[in-house]
Amino acid sequence: MAGERGHFGTRLGFILAAAGSAVGLGNVWKFPYLAGENGGAVFLFIYLGFILTIGLSVMLAEFAIGRRAQRNPVGAFKALKGGPWVAVGGMGVFCGFIILSFYSVVGGWTVAYAVKSATGLLANGDAKALGNAFGGFIGDPVEPLIYHALFMAVTMAVVAKGVHGGIERVCRVLMPVLFVLLVVLCIRSVTLPGAGAGIAFFLEPDFSKVNGAMVTAALGQAFFSLSLGMGAMITYGSYLSAKVSLPGAALWVTSLDTLIAVMAGFMILPAVFAFGFDPGAGPGLTFITLPAVFSQIPGGAFFGTLFFVLLAVAALTSAFSLIEVVVAYLVDERGIRRFQAAMGAGFVIFILGIPSSLSFGVWSSYTVAGKNFFDIMDYLASNLMLPAGGIFISLFAGWVAFPKLMEAGEGGIEKSFRLARIWQAICRYVAPVAIAWTLINGL
Ligand code: PHE
Repeated sequence: MAGERGHFGTRLGFILAAAGSAVGLGNVWKFPYLAGENGGAVFLFIYLGFILTIGLSVMLAEFAIGRRAQRNPVGAFKALKGGPWVAVGGMGVFCGFIILSFYSVVGGWTVAYAVKSATGLLANGDAKALGNAFGGFIGDPVEPLIYHALFMAVTMAVVAKGVHGGIERVCRVLMPVLFVLLVVLCIRSVTLPGAGAGIAFFLEPDFSKVNGAMVTAALGQAFFSLSLGMGAMITYGSYLSAKVSLPGAALWVTSLDTLIAVMAGFMILPAVFAFGFDPGAGPGLTFITLPAVFSQIPGGAFFGTLFFVLLAVAALTSAFSLIEVVVAYLVDERGIRRFQAAMGAGFVIFILGIPSSLSFGVWSSYTVAGKNFFDIMDYLASNLMLPAGGIFISLFAGWVAFPKLMEAGEGGIEKSFRLARIWQAICRYVAPVAIAWTLINGL
């Protein structure tokens, strides 16, 4: 079986595809609003701490497990050890369903905003009115669902044809354009009158404000943004040939993802303060702030449209990796044809996303502990299941599979990796203990 798997063409292609999975709505939509809700700079610093101590190591663990086993997460744990470890892969497949169901709803928002920016939304220069327009849109019972359906349809169509060629090519061209646009928007945002308060909010931490919920949110975001804890990077690693250096790839992908999240913070938070929005506004923050920024730059409608198109593409490349975990499992382990697997999984995910979308409108009054359906799905997946998956992936790499993962010539990590012992110690002790401690504190 393993010999028939498609592989990424080049080292750059793989890094771009893995970065395409990591860079997405997590960076541009989720990171700024979580930072806004959780004290700004404090959140940023805790988040960076988690990326360095845990994120990088778990990323390498996932790449290594995937490349060594050449299988989907369930098959990989089965091939390398078996027994109860297989359940870790199973939880990852389950996470693919949950995360993509609400991810696609927000992906739909970006598509809608590309359309709306092109058709006159930004002509109204009043920041507050632009903010309210977003509330009206997501509260509508039908319109966001159409865009959710569209987003899922594209995801299904691309993944049904196989991941490699398409994703590699799309990422290579569009990611650099998105990057340049982010730089331009950061500059505009930090130079708005009144932006200084936002810059201070994002860079000057007040560690007396730290609490357990904040630390859990930062940990969950580190996993979510790096696409870790559910086997997405195991799956991508499984499409990798033995030539690519895994530690180097993990460092590249982690750095790129972190850089773009920090840039998104600089793009959104200063503007939030400049326009007098509430940094704790929640999931809508990016969508109410960016149109106001675009209304303040020459050619705003053009740049707004371009930006939301690129953000939709970044969201799609992440969505491919989410559904690919499910599809690779169905193809490898259940013998289902790729096309059928993509269509079936995509349909179920679309249905599962409907209550998430409605929870911003007609179903907003159905809440548990102040969380609507969307929040609950996000919380369960990002703050509980991904970190829990991270514990088991670390333990597995550090204690169980370490010798196999290092085996040169068998797709293992190259012998020249001098930090192998440190990496192993992080996988064995540091990451599992830190994650478990954070989870317990958060509850
Ligand atoms: N990392 C993606 C983003 O930041 C989301 C994602 C999470 C993708 C988990 C795959 C797995 O948008």
